[in-house]
Amino acid sequence: TGCFTYDNGFTATASCKSAITYIDGDAGVLMYRGYPIEQLAEHSSFLEVAYLLMNGELPTEQKFASFADDIAHHTMLHEAFKQFIGGFRHDAHPMAMLMGMLGSMASFYHNNHDYDDPEQRHLAAIRLIAKVPTIAAACYRYSMGWPLRFPRNNLEYVTRFLHMMFEVPSEPLQMNPVAAKALDLLFILHADHEQNASTSTVRMVGSTGANPYACIASGVAALWGPAHGGANEAVLKMLNEIGSPANVQNAIDKAKDKESGFRLMGFGHRVYKNFDPRAKIIREMTYKVLNELGVNDPLLDVAMKLEEAALKDDYFIQRKLYPNVDFYSGIIYKALKIPTDMFTVMFAIARTSGWVAHWLEQQADPEQKIGRPRQIYVGHDKRDYVAIDKR
Ligand code: CMC
Repeated sequence: TGCFTYDNGFTATASCKSAITYIDGDAGVLMYRGYPIEQLAEHSSFLEVAYLLMNGELPTEQKFASFADDIAHHTMLHEAFKQFIGGFRHDAHPMAMLMGMLGSMASFYHNNHDYDDPEQRHLAAIRLIAKVPTIAAACYRYSMGWPLRFPRNNLEYVTRFLHMMFEVPSEPLQMNPVAAKALDLLFILHADHEQNASTSTVRMVGSTGANPYACIASGVAALWGPAHGGANEAVLKMLNEIGSPANVQNAIDKAKDKESGFRLMGFGHRVYKNFDPRAKIIREMTYKVLNELGVNDPLLDVAMKLEEAALKDDYFIQRKLYPNVDFYSGIIYKALKIPTDMFTVMFAIARTSGWVAHWLEQQADPEQKIGRPRQIYVGHDKRDYVAIDKR
């Protein structure tokens, strides 16, 4: 059957060399380009982190200003996108729309683009980081039946996005700076996570030399699943279903019962076996943000009770299952009035910065090869064809 190592789910295979993100799952360490996530969360901004991931170093003031200008310059969408988005059903899931729209960008930026040229690759990365929030907001507004808004390029990245989402023509948007700061922080925490399923997908597609917009669309596809980025949406649905702290024990018992097919969403991680450092930051932030925004969400009580009960339970202790990045993020998105089906889109906006950084790193790597895993064949031995009337 071949002499390959069988590594179901790639638990022990390094698929590439990368200088972008470091994780030590046992110690709960996450660093982007050597900078601890805790320090970036406290002092940096999402756009600065995007620059860091792409370029390897923190920018000087001048470099940052020029990067932010470049991004602002590329936030607009071609008018033809309006027709494209108008073709979706009114109730289409925004992740499906985002995936389709990004895929269609490959048709806008393909024929005249030579992605062997590092400058063209850089431009594609800038375009992607710039346009994904515009597309995301357009998906939301389309689902609401609202007219699309132009990006206001005098605003900074996250505030610009919130304006595109929520602004209505008749009244100026009352933007709470706490909301923008909270979203910026969530974007920093979601920006990159080395060879997770979606980033590995982007690299796999990138390894064939495919168009960069097609690569990122494939990343969105992989992110959507509930075992990956779709977990944030699934957590909120789960908390709603549990409904009150009194029902928490039932949920724990159901998650322990393999027959039930139910898992505690927002719990467990392939790499983190002690704690997820992002979850630790988000947990603290959730109390603070809800407090500052004056939001009293009963789901927070459900989440806290669920976490407490799971962390005391032998099933979760033995399997080293802790809350992950997605356990509390949905409660914050909800407090920011972002609808549940947009949660994974928020993750995608942030992760686009990581995806493009990995794509750039891969394309510049002289050692890069097409991704082509082998398999352990478990099918029939050789047998002879039987005519249809003899079967
Ligand atoms: N609830 C109940 N049991 C669980 C859970 C959970 N959330 N997660 C893992 N287990 C059990 C699993 O049944 C298995 O038990 P046993 O050893 O008895 O067969 C054991 O723990 C190991 O699980 P696994 O599925 O082999 O672990 P994995 O590394 O393949 O999966 C995971 C990691 C994140 C997919 C999984 O923990 C999970 O499904 N979690 C819920 C979904 C979720 O929150 N995903 C977001 C991940 S973080 C953000 C991101 O990556 O996008």
